[in-house]
Amino acid sequence: MVYIWRTYSRFSNDFSQFYLFNPIGIYSIYYHSKFEQIKKTNSMKRIQIINGPNLNLLGKREPTVYGNQTFEAYLQKLKSLFPDVQLDYFQSNIEGELINKLHEVGFSYDGIVLNAGAYTHTSIAIADAIRSITVPVLEVHISNVFKREVYRHHSYLSDACKGCIVGFGMDSYRLGIDAILHFD
Ligand code: DQA
Repeated sequence: MVYIWRTYSRFSNDFSQFYLFNPIGIYSIYYHSKFEQIKKTNSMKRIQIINGPNLNLLGKREPTVYGNQTFEAYLQKLKSLFPDVQLDYFQSNIEGELINKLHEVGFSYDGIVLNAGAYTHTSIAIADAIRSITVPVLEVHISNVFKREVYRHHSYLSDACKGCIVGFGMDSYRLGIDAILHFD
C-alpha cells in the first residue's frame, strides 16, 4: 500500500487526504479516475492559437469587418467544440513576441493556428520563424483579405504555412483546428 502510495502520489497533491481518510474501495475508485484523467491529458492533442496585432480589440475593432465577438468569448466556444484538444491561446501586438511563441511551441505541439494580423503582409521574420520550426502552421484570417485593399492581397507567410483559411469570420479558427486534426 505504501509502495503504491509512493508511486502514484506524485499525480495528485490532495492524494494523501484520500489515502488517510478513505477505505481502500474509495481509494481505488479515486486512483482509477485520476489515472484515466492523466492518461487523457497525456494523449490530448495540443494546438496553439496565436493572434497578432490589434486582434486583442476584436469585438470593438471595425465590427463591420471583424464582427462583435471578443476572442475570449469565441475561445470558450472553441474549447467546448474541441473538448479533447488542449487549446492554448496567445496574443501579442509585438512581432518579436509572436516569433518567440512560435519558437516556444514549434517543436512540441501538434499544430499552430496563426492569425498574424497586418504582420502577414510585412513580416519576413515571422515567415522565417515558421520555416524554422517543425510544427505545422495554419494561416487564418477572419476577413476575406482578397476582397480588401491590394496591400492585403500578399502574404509573406502563406508559402511557409501548411495551408490558409481566409474569410470565414471567427469560424476561420475552427476550420483551422479541424484542418490540423484531420489532414496530414
Ligand atoms: C486580418 C487581416 C489583416 O489584413 C489585418 O491587418 C488584420 C486582421 C484578418 O483576420 O482578417 O489585422 O488578419
